[in-house]
Amino acid sequence: MNRKISERALGAKNCLSVRDLHVKIDQLTLAKGMSFDLCPGEVTVIIGPNGTGKSTLLKTLFGDINKQQGEVSFQGISLSKKVLSKWRQFFGYMPQDIHLDVELSVLEVVLLGQLDALSLRLDESMVTEALNALEQIGLLHLANRSVNALSGGQCQMILFAQAMMRKPSILMLDEPVSALDLHFQQVLLDYLDRKTKENGWVSLMVLHDLNLAAQYADNLLVVKDGLIVSSGAPKDILTPQLVKDVYGVEAEVTVDGQGVPFIRTRRSSHKKATEIENRNVEKTTTIKETGVSNVY
Ligand SMILES: Nc1ncnc2c1ncn2[C@@H]1O[C@H](COP(=O)(O)OP(=O)(O)OP(=O)(O)O)[C@@H](O)[C@H]1O
Ligand SMILES: [Mg+2]
Repeated sequence: MNRKISERALGAKNCLSVRDLHVKIDQLTLAKGMSFDLCPGEVTVIIGPNGTGKSTLLKTLFGDINKQQGEVSFQGISLSKKVLSKWRQFFGYMPQDIHLDVELSVLEVVLLGQLDALSLRLDESMVTEALNALEQIGLLHLANRSVNALSGGQCQMILFAQAMMRKPSILMLDEPVSALDLHFQQVLLDYLDRKTKENGWVSLMVLHDLNLAAQYADNLLVVKDGLIVSSGAPKDILTPQLVKDVYGVEAEVTVDGQGVPFIRTRRSSHKKATEIENRNVEKTTTIKETGVSNVY
């Protein structure tokens, strides 16, 4: 039997289960009865417009923001203030836009990912593991550098390595590739995908790039106005109509040779730019005809 189907068939016990989640910050309602399951070995990607509550949803699942109503549970534990420290041990969590303004080396920051396991004495094997993690993402050469001196993209990769070091049951990454070049986007997302499948992690990340979401999501959650407006495999739900409904943008969606949707937007300023160009040509012609030499 397909592994994913068998795990889903086990029901919510193995999955991170969210039922009828309501979240409100001040007067802003950011979740209006969301229900979904995130299962081991699957990468789920959340997409949706700016300010729609994606980061708030991750913070709520982590227990940083109190839910108004609903239930979040995993491995027989239901999220509440009482169980918060135990709950958080399930997670490796990389929030959006963290700035590393500390006097620590890259190696020390990666080691902090194992904080729960660290005793007063640092185990040699932990250091080896942290160095291995850096090597696997191609950043071993930065191990002794101060994190203060890193570029934005390098910081993002180091925080990813730190989240990995927790050996999480649930891995949550909020826009983990927003500062990365094409090479490191691929390194991070391939690594995440492989480790999720190898270790049976529940992986959840927010992405804005729909083409990366289409490539790496086993499951997509489309969030808008406090609701999950669509969910499922990218090939089943990423349509021009969905892109229009969610972002108000016209897009072409084709499918590549591997069955992965490819989303291409059109430059909407193109028509206006052509009109302006045409007007300028007309203006220049008129000026030439009237013999005026200064064209502004
Ligand atoms: N602590 C807070 N106090 C007041 N408003 C907040 C707070 N946190 C978030 N908000 C508001 O909640 C809304 C959703 O914010 P959130 O950061 O969850 O959006 P997002 O979907 O992650 O957006 P983006 O794609 O830009 O990261 C925004 O309007 C934001 O201003
Ligand atoms: Mg956000």
